Amino acid sequence: MSSIPPLPNRRTRGDLTAAWAALQQHFDEQGKNFDARDAFATDANRFETLSQQAPYVFADLSKNRLDTATQALLMDLARQSGVEAHRDAMFAGEKINNAENRAVMHWLLRTAESIENNDSNTPLAGVSIASSAINNIANIKTDLALVHQTLTPMLAYAEQIRADAQITDIVNIGIGGSDLGPLMAVLALDSFATTGKRLHFVSNVDGHELAAVLKNLKAENTLFLVASKTFTTIETMTNALSAKAWFEVNYVDKSNLLTKDKGISRHFAALTTNVAAANAFGISTTFGFWDWVGGRYSLWSAIGLPIAVAIGAQGFRDLLAGASAMDEHFRTAPLESNLPVKLGLLDVWYRNFHGFTSRCVAPYHSALKRLPAYLQQLEMESNGKQVDANGELLPFSTSAVVWGEPGTNGQHAFFQMLHQGTDVVPVEFIAVKNARHNLPGHQQRLLANAVAQAQALMMGKKDDGGHKNFPGNRPSTTILLENLTPASFGALIALYEHRVFVAGSVWGINSFDQWGVELGKVLAVDIEKRMSSGDLSGLDGSTRGLLAKLKA
Ligand code: F6P
Repeated sequence: MSSIPPLPNRRTRGDLTAAWAALQQHFDEQGKNFDARDAFATDANRFETLSQQAPYVFADLSKNRLDTATQALLMDLARQSGVEAHRDAMFAGEKINNAENRAVMHWLLRTAESIENNDSNTPLAGVSIASSAINNIANIKTDLALVHQTLTPMLAYAEQIRADAQITDIVNIGIGGSDLGPLMAVLALDSFATTGKRLHFVSNVDGHELAAVLKNLKAENTLFLVASKTFTTIETMTNALSAKAWFEVNYVDKSNLLTKDKGISRHFAALTTNVAAANAFGISTTFGFWDWVGGRYSLWSAIGLPIAVAIGAQGFRDLLAGASAMDEHFRTAPLESNLPVKLGLLDVWYRNFHGFTSRCVAPYHSALKRLPAYLQQLEMESNGKQVDANGELLPFSTSAVVWGEPGTNGQHAFFQMLHQGTDVVPVEFIAVKNARHNLPGHQQRLLANAVAQAQALMMGKKDDGGHKNFPGNRPSTTILLENLTPASFGALIALYEHRVFVAGSVWGINSFDQWGVELGKVLAVDIEKRMSSGDLSGLDGSTRGLLAKLKA
């Protein structure tokens, strides 16, 4: 144990704390036999005690295998692992992404324009920061000014596109964080879309995707947004090159004033930290961001341009403001009433003590249909790590598998397994109280189903252990929004970001790198070359066999 070097940023790996051992003992003695039904029977206030209102988001944790004693031990774990110090280091702009020597400041993208150190409403107020970070405050102010200097023209451009009658279709070309966030948000906020424009998202290198979009487009009515933090991602570059080639063939300059770049400057824009590469590609309209914005945390940056085109500049500002309210909650609320902290600690409790391997996300709102896919990247790319921030192999499990589909559809697919399967899978129900449609009866029926599923999972049903027996005590969390608006949606996503931060913090990992995606990228380049050359030497038997079959 003593050979393990201390983690950076005043952190202690969770398993090395006394609280971890106390939690293990608590689990062995009580936690593993905990039954939420018994807990409700003995505690009339359980719902009130284990639910919480945070900005725009209410969460009921009372159907979980959790009680106040467990929560208190989990809070000890958070404190002893240095979650607060780590959080403060993030908000102080310290380089907590140590593997890449970068700060982690996606929260700054949604911070209001002016901050003063002594103002209690600032992101830096009341934060106990290391002396090295004090120097960062000036940098943060500079960065904040840059954020707004970029945001204002980006939103003006979005409004310009919205007002441009000639542009009927916008195609976002990007993958991972440059696709999942904007796509999810555009779908989620569809009822706030005040433009008749069609938004398309092309991510896969599979040409079927781009071809299916292009076949319905007219070049002169189309705007391509090439979204890539690095502007090197192979899928995005392949799609962008094909889109450009298609555009050059199909573009007819109706004004007969053929511009030097044949319309590229008007019909292509790039959203990237690598403006030089975008320029070299031939795109002159660019909106930048910075290396301290991780790809999966980038929907708040220029990567959010499609969202701003869909819901307008004010809608985008509302989205940022909602997220910022959640940032403030995470930054300032005591751990005991801090929702991202509670949810992140619940994830640790389930993963490391109960041994649950996955979590199901079931949004009971069809507009949130891409939330599970977005969360897969956010959670599994952030916390799917086997080493701590120092590169030491971890002796415990990290990220659960996150998966899900909207309700009620999931009820007619995988809910059978959730109710009666051999594995316990915690479920997260996400419901929105008020609908934005006028169809009678639907909303009540939808919400009734969400509540009933959570009830059925917990209560179960005795039937002599036969086919109709439901064991019950299957944990779930219900997350409730009053309305799905840009602001509440922003708060919800920020809640998830911070929850992932908390779990990663306890696990002692760097949640902000993603080396695990590199090996496959490198090998794909080698395999592609071998497909051309036919050289199969030195390959394992299966890879060789598959390549031979693909060639035949
Ligand atoms: O899949 C790895 C990854 O680096 C993600 O983290 C990122 O969101 C995605 O690729 C796209 O990267 P970029 O925005 O640089 O094209």
